[in-house]
Amino acid sequence: MAVRSPVINVMAAAALKAARGLIRDFGEIEQLQVSVKGPGDFVSAADLKAERTLKAELSRARPGYGMLFEEEGAIEGSDKRHRWIVDPLDGTTNFLHGIPHFCISIALERDNEIVAAVVYEPTRDELYWAEKGAGAYLNDRRLRVSARRQLGNALIGTGMPFRDRGDKALYSAILNSVMTATSGVRRFGAAALDLAYLAAGRLDGFWEFGLQPWDIAAGILLVREAGGYVSDLSGGQTMMTSGDVLAANDHLHLPLAALIREAKRAPVDR
Ligand code: 2AM
Ligand code: CA
Repeated sequence: MAVRSPVINVMAAAALKAARGLIRDFGEIEQLQVSVKGPGDFVSAADLKAERTLKAELSRARPGYGMLFEEEGAIEGSDKRHRWIVDPLDGTTNFLHGIPHFCISIALERDNEIVAAVVYEPTRDELYWAEKGAGAYLNDRRLRVSARRQLGNALIGTGMPFRDRGDKALYSAILNSVMTATSGVRRFGAAALDLAYLAAGRLDGFWEFGLQPWDIAAGILLVREAGGYVSDLSGGQTMMTSGDVLAANDHLHLPLAALIREAKRAPVDR
């Protein structure tokens, strides 16, 4: 039986409380799709409400910790060693379209190192959590990344550039290589959940460029504590600043990295 530490209990309780509001609001979305104005403002309000709940719960339990929230940005704390890194609603576009694939992501950083993580998927009631050195769990079950060794059998998650962001030609070249070399590619639209699914052995690898710290802070620890490997594109550890993430089980990290780097070097003239 997995024993949750006090700090994981604080994070889980905050996530569950904020999730109750998100689930209620998600129930309204279907009606709003057919309204002329659409659900855009309603979803922004739901997102903000979840953020306020998380902020209140986390700061009540651990006064003085610094915070980095997706909506409100950085909040300095009197305790300079600790910082919460929080995405109150990852997968906002899914939520907006009534697609039940979104989550709350909470990470705790101590002395610039992520030491505790909670990712909660409200529609499946799945709580992913990890603590540095203590393993990763889904509800009460210990997690382990997949054992697949062949890229040809691997299912790879990704996030593609959207709107005016990212280098689409470069991304397309990489996608082309990865979809040829693997068993398939999935684009689910919530990076924190992609990393949680990788930790749970559902996906075998994941890559995305230009992510934000709140998208990945918790997921990185989940993958590591489940025995996986996370790096930036060059094998370094700049994920939180560069936003570039390449994650996989131990066997597939090197081959996936080589594949992506090769596609990146090749001229984009397809
Ligand atoms: P968000 O839902 O918190 O904005 C996946 O590509 C990541 O990019 C998600 O974690 C998502 O975080 C962010 N994102 C922002 N806008 C997006 C969009 N239009 N489509 C997909 N992902 C988007
Ligand atoms: Ca996000």
